[in-house]
Amino acid sequence: MSKVTVVGAGNVGATVANVLAHKDIVNEVVLLDIKDSFAKGKALDTWQQAPVDYYSTKVTGTGDYKATKGSDIVVITAGIPRKPGMSRDDLISTNAKIVVSVTKSILKYSKKAIFIIVSNPLDVMSYAALKAAGVEPHRVIGMAGILDTARYRAFLATELSVSPKDIQAVLMGGHGDTMVPLPRFTTVAGIPVTDLISKVALNKIVARTKKGGGELVKLMGTSAWYAPGAAAAQMVESIIKDDGRIFPCSVWLQGEYGLKNMFLGVPVQLGKEGVKKIIVLKLNREEKKLLKNSAQHVTEVIKSFKKMKLV
Ligand code: LAC
Repeated sequence: MSKVTVVGAGNVGATVANVLAHKDIVNEVVLLDIKDSFAKGKALDTWQQAPVDYYSTKVTGTGDYKATKGSDIVVITAGIPRKPGMSRDDLISTNAKIVVSVTKSILKYSKKAIFIIVSNPLDVMSYAALKAAGVEPHRVIGMAGILDTARYRAFLATELSVSPKDIQAVLMGGHGDTMVPLPRFTTVAGIPVTDLISKVALNKIVARTKKGGGELVKLMGTSAWYAPGAAAAQMVESIIKDDGRIFPCSVWLQGEYGLKNMFLGVPVQLGKEGVKKIIVLKLNREEKKLLKNSAQHVTEVIKSFKKMKLV
């Protein structure tokens, strides 16, 4: 038996519930939103898709935290998305309050839950959720790296005219313009990407990846949902299946990569306990410098969160 709650029935939350239902790997998905009829509608729509797309996962919507009781995993997508011209950091004052209050309410009914955070600014909202929940740090994981790496892989697939399936990559750092795609750890079916693409083209793709979320905000007037929702659902899947998969995720660091007391994107192995293992790569000087720069940026935003005195 497994139960997953998705908080926030906006575009991202509804996509997480929908993609997860299609995977048919959990018994129940509860979609919760303060706009409860909205949550009920999106959940009912996804449930009515079940006979067509052939899954058994029961999907329900609610505005009542009681209905989330006994969840194994909780995905928090609640909060406002970016509008054109905004950075993810601009969302902190609104979203921090929401994430802190949601985390506390969830914990009342699901004491053992693993939290996947999707709200922005991602690394800092993961920090906020951990502080609000006061649970073991391996139970709080931020979803960013799978999405950012997916964007990087998709751009490479287009450039090289290959299947995105064959592109493997690592990307580290914060979920923002300072993120660090790592060409040295990128392959196409095992072939180093640097053997297949010019430096100029690769640099362009790295730069586009860093602003990948912003590109979509410009196109749509709000932030993306299909790839973010699918990425969060993939994290749920690997925790449920406990199959040892490795993804870049934002996790609590305690000395890894020389960083402490913060959330930042690094490669991790997920499992039934949440974060099973943090993988420490041997970075070169340039990569270390970029990661440090990204960490410094996230640290600044954590400082703004601390000033809000919510936890
Ligand atoms: C993005 C948002 C979800 O990167 O952060 O699209």
